[in-house]
Amino acid sequence: MPSIAVIAGDGVGKEVIPAGLRVLEAVTSLQAEMLPWGAEHYAATGVMMPGDALSRLDRYDAIYLGAVGWPTVPDHVSLWGLLLPIRKAFQLYVNLRPVKLLPGVAGPLAGRGPGEIDMIVVRENTEGEYSGAGGRVHAGTPYEVAVEAPVFTRLAVERVARYSLDLARARSGSLISVTKSNASRYAYVLWDEVVAEVAREYPGVTVQRVHVDAMAARMVLRPETVDVVVASNLFADILTDLGAALQGSLGLAASANLDPTRAHPSLFEPVHGSAPDIAGQGRANPMGAIWSGAMMLRHLGLGAEAARVEDAIAQVLADGAVRTADLGGSASTDEVADAVIGALRAAAPAHEAGGSR
Ligand code: IPM
Ligand code: MN
Repeated sequence: MPSIAVIAGDGVGKEVIPAGLRVLEAVTSLQAEMLPWGAEHYAATGVMMPGDALSRLDRYDAIYLGAVGWPTVPDHVSLWGLLLPIRKAFQLYVNLRPVKLLPGVAGPLAGRGPGEIDMIVVRENTEGEYSGAGGRVHAGTPYEVAVEAPVFTRLAVERVARYSLDLARARSGSLISVTKSNASRYAYVLWDEVVAEVAREYPGVTVQRVHVDAMAARMVLRPETVDVVVASNLFADILTDLGAALQGSLGLAASANLDPTRAHPSLFEPVHGSAPDIAGQGRANPMGAIWSGAMMLRHLGLGAEAARVEDAIAQVLADGAVRTADLGGSASTDEVADAVIGALRAAAPAHEAGGSR
């Protein structure tokens, strides 16, 4: 049975993760251990997670995370105290983010329906603009300086390029590499060179180089021409919030922070964050968390179970009766999870209904 470290974290993370776990446990048995880390842990101890957190997490098969961040803790402190160290220490170098408009969901683009918005973004997840290299000097004086240095290494660009090319080969055979090598003279020039080098090993895959500004416009104007996208940490962060909007709600967006080498546990989290404005009300959309959970099952080798969960998500959205406020409904987080579980049971052969192994 897979062992899962569960960090519900802050805000609506504490609502969507229990809902997501209930759905996952309807299709398989998991050994889930709740780790109460986050802003409350910070208030009590001065740290977001204990000093031995990384070595503890390393023993699990996967990490299921809700959200990190709360108004009582500066965001750069909470994120650099929990989520970002995990991504970096475990070399979760691929942050995989599907962007798919599902039937029954009204996307914001006029005249665009499901089938026209079906992309997957591969986000470099360990370096780039998130390297953490930098500093501040002359604090509080008129001469104060802040330096935040993006770091791009051949190794990291190469491995994320390879993952993306493999993915593109398995899908449409087309990859868009997002860059900014017109204004950037060093980092994105290296990015382009390394992507092109690795791409030579994939004669069946067409690689297009698109500047990030043009990419933002293209995702809105010609989304049907976008399939697999690879981009740096910051560029993909921004483009996947745009992607989430194209999907109809940030509440639907899922992500998998993967170590494809499987040396360390991978981490699965919805994209939406802690949402302090609606936290505590039980009305956050759990679909992003449930979908991320399905990605976790797939990574754990439970592909059939993952597909069942994804089908049930699609079924509930297509049906439209039970949806949260972000999608124009009035259902609670738990009601949506119940509807997904209902769809799972309805789809399963009778002898399997409700069964876990
Ligand atoms: C995300 C989030 C994080 C990021 C923040 C919270 C640090 O926006 O996962 O997209 O920028 O990576
Ligand atoms: Mn983001």
